[in-house]
Amino acid sequence: MSNRLRHLGIIMDGNGRWAKKHGFKRNRGHEAGAEVVREITAFCANHHEIETLTLYAFSTENWRRPKIEVDFLMRLISRYLKKELKNYMNNGVRFETIGNLEPFSKELRGTIEKTKELTKNNTKLVQILALNYGARDEIVRSIKKLLQEKKEINIENISDFLDTPYSDLDLLIRTSGEERVSNFLLWQIAYSEFAFTKTLWPDFTTIELEKIIENFKKRERRFGAV
Ligand code: FPP
Repeated sequence: MSNRLRHLGIIMDGNGRWAKKHGFKRNRGHEAGAEVVREITAFCANHHEIETLTLYAFSTENWRRPKIEVDFLMRLISRYLKKELKNYMNNGVRFETIGNLEPFSKELRGTIEKTKELTKNNTKLVQILALNYGARDEIVRSIKKLLQEKKEINIENISDFLDTPYSDLDLLIRTSGEERVSNFLLWQIAYSEFAFTKTLWPDFTTIELEKIIENFKKRERRFGAV
């Protein structure tokens, strides 16, 4: 029997290099990247197995970028969510986030909460945007919550108290030729399959995703058994 792909995670990398390659400013790369987010999400919503798509949109380290780029990314995400609502509803996508939203503007947090509320009954796909997300931070926060509630520290409880009590990741894709995990979903990738592609995120297509999934299906996953 082939592997089931329930939870797909993507580290969307290479927007800046794509822009440079085409002689554009970096922000144009992020804009093009947002279009790909839209296409890949629609594909996943219509895929018969995928239940959850987690996308690394803004890491805890991304604050170190120039303010002008950070501000642009914030506005882009806000614009994307507002524009995307119709597609979320049409495609049956529930919107969720992981990561600490506190440092974001009140306006962006408002848009995020509103989108979550309006899409909460959609059932074809959960699209999770990782925003100001870092996996080590997520694990530490989970353990702190367990201690506060005087619960036992064990694998099941740590999993339950993560930002993502959704499920382990089956497949992790990273674009742009980098072969790193960069503090993304460290706990949830314990038994994931990995796929790295040299394609820059704005050039990533559903056709390439289909090929990666086909390859994933053929792999043997033993989860530590023989
Ligand atoms: C990596 O490219 C990408 C990001 C830092 C953010 C991802 C953002 C998007 C795909 C666009 C907006 C997202 C949504 C959900 C609307 P990079 O800038 O690190 O590229 P580089 O490594 O080539 O410089």
